[in-house]
Amino acid sequence: MNPLDDIVEAARVAFSQAPTPADLENAKAVFLGKSGQLTEMMKGLAALPIEEKKVRGAAINVAKQAVEAALTARRQAMVDAELERQLRAEALDVTLPGRRVAVGGLHPVSLTMARIEGIFGSMGFEVAQGPEIETDWFNFTALNTPEDHPARSMHDTFYVEGESGGAPMLLRTHTSPMQIRHAVQHVKTHRARLDAGQGMPEIRVIAPGRTYRVDSDATHSPMFHQCEGLWVGEAVSFKDLKVVFTDFCRTFFESDDLVLRFRPSFFPFTEPSAEVDIQFQSGPLAGRWLEVAGSGQVHPNVIRNMGLDPEQFIGFAFGMGPDRLTMLRYGVNDLRLFFDGDLRFLSQFN
Ligand code: DAH
Repeated sequence: MNPLDDIVEAARVAFSQAPTPADLENAKAVFLGKSGQLTEMMKGLAALPIEEKKVRGAAINVAKQAVEAALTARRQAMVDAELERQLRAEALDVTLPGRRVAVGGLHPVSLTMARIEGIFGSMGFEVAQGPEIETDWFNFTALNTPEDHPARSMHDTFYVEGESGGAPMLLRTHTSPMQIRHAVQHVKTHRARLDAGQGMPEIRVIAPGRTYRVDSDATHSPMFHQCEGLWVGEAVSFKDLKVVFTDFCRTFFESDDLVLRFRPSFFPFTEPSAEVDIQFQSGPLAGRWLEVAGSGQVHPNVIRNMGLDPEQFIGFAFGMGPDRLTMLRYGVNDLRLFFDGDLRFLSQFN
């Protein structure tokens, strides 16, 4: 073989063995660079006579083209290999099932809460929130339930560590403490008007939230929900309670012929007190009396603890269980289902 063929062959081998593009460029320099083998041969032509120069020059050019062609082919092969590698790395199996986007939803009890707030909102009630860790004063004493009052044993209370002003702290057993908290705040806001004998805007509020009692079975959970209602003014009567609560129940259950019964009962913070029962006229629960709330006319001692004069102010209160309302509305028979966190159950409400 002549030396040019040797060079072309050597270049092909060097290019094919270059592992990376950088190595390939280095290999190129050996043959085609400024002082590469072919370049040097070209320089050597200058000393040759013209005829020889032509022949030899043409031969070197053929060799040069062959080396360049080998270089281009190797570059392209490297680009193709890299592309192939990338495609492999990013390979998609288009036959796999797509990823589902989970659609979230509200908890059924949250739906009930929103419904309660909407209905009472339309009747001009504000919504108040308060602490779940309460003092003895707000949970019991201010609500006309002193230390030795038998009504305290009606509630199985969770006490928490620590105390407030020497009195125990507890997880509120009902939302009724919000009656006092909200009223005291309201009275404070309107103190100047009250002192000037100009009265005050009525208190009209609901207070939904979590409550706690030591209790657990199909219809009781240690954490449950309540929604308190309070309407206090200078001329609020028991009749107003009946109208408001009847209206609420009929709207909540979307049942115009729903019948309510106010059954005499006892609560320390109301006098007289009543338990509210409802009766559906149609559907699976038709004919049965179902208890949905406690209620009554706010006790004068409670009015006093709100900072108001019971000779001037009067009102009603009620407390209901949104968990129970949810069970009745959807026909659920076990309260614990709401708090187990099983999505197969919970996702049915949205
Ligand atoms: N707090 C009472 C309970 O948990 C329910 C209740 C009864 C609330 C009568 C009231 C009411 O506001 O007037 O059993």
